[in-house]
Amino acid sequence: MANIKYDIVDIRTIKNEKSGMLSFFEAERDIPMAIKRIYYITGADKDSIRGGHAHKESMQFIFCPYGAIKLILDDGKRKAEVVLDNPSKGLLLYPCLWRDIIWLEEKSVLCVAVSLYYNAEENDYIRDYREFLEYVFKNPNIT
Ligand code: TYD
Repeated sequence: MANIKYDIVDIRTIKNEKSGMLSFFEAERDIPMAIKRIYYITGADKDSIRGGHAHKESMQFIFCPYGAIKLILDDGKRKAEVVLDNPSKGLLLYPCLWRDIIWLEEKSVLCVAVSLYYNAEENDYIRDYREFLEYVFKNPNIT
């Protein structure tokens, strides 16, 4: 059985003795996608929950430069958990994965680079879990 479609990406990080760490990645080189949009979430309490949706088309590269965040991924058949707890760890999500995101530490910063622009009609979103299951059932090659 194929694995759930995500990759863990090592984000190159250069550590300086006293002045912190510098992390960087390049679109279409370190991650297999162009970046159209970046958004980030700050100021969340511990145990905050976000996500609760899937994307039909877009790929997302998710990283946590500060704190610790858990993602529960679901492709309709299988589940996986990934913890992002350091600036060098990135998570690349392919289309059509349901994700729930849980803040393990207060004020953890969630950053997301996305392969598509946002549109207000949310054509790319599935926000209903039953609808998600129907969608992956009808499009078996997508995950
Ligand atoms: P939403 O995706 O609902 O966040 P969550 O599911 O984690 O609660 O986004 C919250 C609001 O922000 C919603 O009104 C849409 C808006 N938004 C944008 O305008 N552009 C974006 O790139 C994103 C991610 C959200």
